[in-house]
Amino acid sequence: MLAFGLVTLALSVGGVSSAATGFVSPPAELFSPLVGQKVLKTAQSLTNPPQYPQYTDRDEGNWIWFVPDQWTAGFFPATLYAMHERTKLCGTQTVSGSHWLELGRAWSTGEIPSETHTGVGHDVGFLSYPFMDELKVYACYFCFCRVWEDEVHVRFRNPKNETAIQAVNAFANHLAGRFSPIVGCTRSWDSADPTDFQVIIDNMMNLEVLFASEALTGNHTLRDIAISHADKTMVNHIRADGGSFHVVDYNSTTGAVIRQRTSQGYADNRHAWGIYGFANMYKHTRKVDYLQTARKMAKYWITNTPSDGIIPWDFNAPLVPPRPADSSAAMIAANGLLLLADQELSILNVTGAAYYTAEVIKMLDANTKLAWRPAWQSLLANGTVNNPQHNNLTGIVYGS
Ligand SMILES: *[C@@H]1O[C@H](CO)[C@@H](O)[C@H](O)[C@H]1NC(C)=O
Ligand SMILES: *[C@@H]1O[C@H](CO)[C@@H](O)[C@H](O)[C@H]1NC(C)=O
Ligand SMILES: *[C@@H]1O[C@H](CO)[C@@H](O)[C@H](O)[C@H]1NC(C)=O
Ligand SMILES: *[C@@H]1O[C@H](CO)[C@@H](O)[C@H](O)[C@H]1NC(C)=O
Ligand SMILES: *[C@@H]1O[C@H](CO)[C@@H](O)[C@H](O)[C@H]1NC(C)=O
Ligand SMILES: *[C@@H]1O[C@H](CO)[C@@H](O)[C@H](O)[C@H]1NC(C)=O
Repeated sequence: MLAFGLVTLALSVGGVSSAATGFVSPPAELFSPLVGQKVLKTAQSLTNPPQYPQYTDRDEGNWIWFVPDQWTAGFFPATLYAMHERTKLCGTQTVSGSHWLELGRAWSTGEIPSETHTGVGHDVGFLSYPFMDELKVYACYFCFCRVWEDEVHVRFRNPKNETAIQAVNAFANHLAGRFSPIVGCTRSWDSADPTDFQVIIDNMMNLEVLFASEALTGNHTLRDIAISHADKTMVNHIRADGGSFHVVDYNSTTGAVIRQRTSQGYADNRHAWGIYGFANMYKHTRKVDYLQTARKMAKYWITNTPSDGIIPWDFNAPLVPPRPADSSAAMIAANGLLLLADQELSILNVTGAAYYTAEVIKMLDANTKLAWRPAWQSLLANGTVNNPQHNNLTGIVYGS
């Protein structure tokens, strides 16, 4: 649920009315009919057995397809749910909302076998998003497109869908099964030496499924696991300057930190997920430490953004040769900052909310203008998956 289409959605539901605050408007591309047209075209290419788009080639922007048991398989179905919600809220799309919902359901179905057999590790959390979308009633405070009353009515999909309930609970149990009480975290990556317990900052995004399953089952152990994981991550992944390590290796026998390191270079999209993850933890727990951490990480992001507003694949990479941009990091950070803005609003900090929303709009404007490619299958170009492996300047399903 972290795509350009979703930023559009978040701006429609989480943003602050521009008329009320005098903000600059979001870039017009966000509301272009091309958004719906491109997503629909991809949606209509569902195959049997299904394959899921992850990123595009670098020249023509055509999707490269992956098997369903991949950490990214949930993003496209979740984008379809986002289109459903966007249509309901904004009412501007040519495709009807019910059609988006049907497509979202059809595209989720291929993920069901991963409930019992999966190699994605902690990323079962990412696989859960479309199923959580099927069940979810979103809470939000303001809406760009419509007024309050509409929101409360349109946001239900099917909160009683048994297939989705089962998927959320199965994925949550799978993630909970990766929890070590000694380390205090869920294991992100498996490793050859099982005592080398690797946790990556991205794991913060996967905690949502634990809260969703707690809400469905009343099992508070799942919440306790999420809180323990976030508390440890706050101490060991987040640096004093608000930056973050990508990977922390713990010793599963002793719980001690073995090393803090990066993988794939620094990779800014990792940091962006941290902003979202801690704002989300605050939303669920109201623990002030999480809000402070999200703010600190947001500050690092905003301070390190270059003056042209283009997010590079790595803030610390040398300027020569030119650093490839990462529009996916920009879109993920936009989501994180909007969620943080929502949290500020929830404590009536209108100044804080206005500040983050204005930063988001600036970032969207610069990065969308750079990466907008009408002919590409993805919504945006200029995404970087893994620069050390030369996977740069593509369209990315989690950022586009
Ligand atoms: C429930 O969700 C599943 C998986 O997303 C979908 O295949 C199914 O059509 C949905 N059923 C109903 C009754 O909405
Ligand atoms: C709650 O969830 C935990 C973690 O998955 C599990 O070990 C425990 O059995 C569950 N409790 C109940 C009552 O289902
Ligand atoms: C973890 O600690 C145990 C006990 O001290 C040790 O045998 C093991 O090699 C350590 N593992 C790693 C990956 O450092
Ligand atoms: C954006 O992508 C295009 C190729 O699609 C490339 O020529 C350009 O250099 C990229 N810009 C940045 C800042 O990465
Ligand atoms: C409002 O939000 C800003 C930005 O996060 C923060 O610096 C400030 O302390 C917050 N004010 C209050 C009263 O919480
Ligand atoms: C981007 O990827 C291409 C090959 O896919 C590689 O030649 C180039 O060095 C990469 N760019 C940077 C700045 O690392």
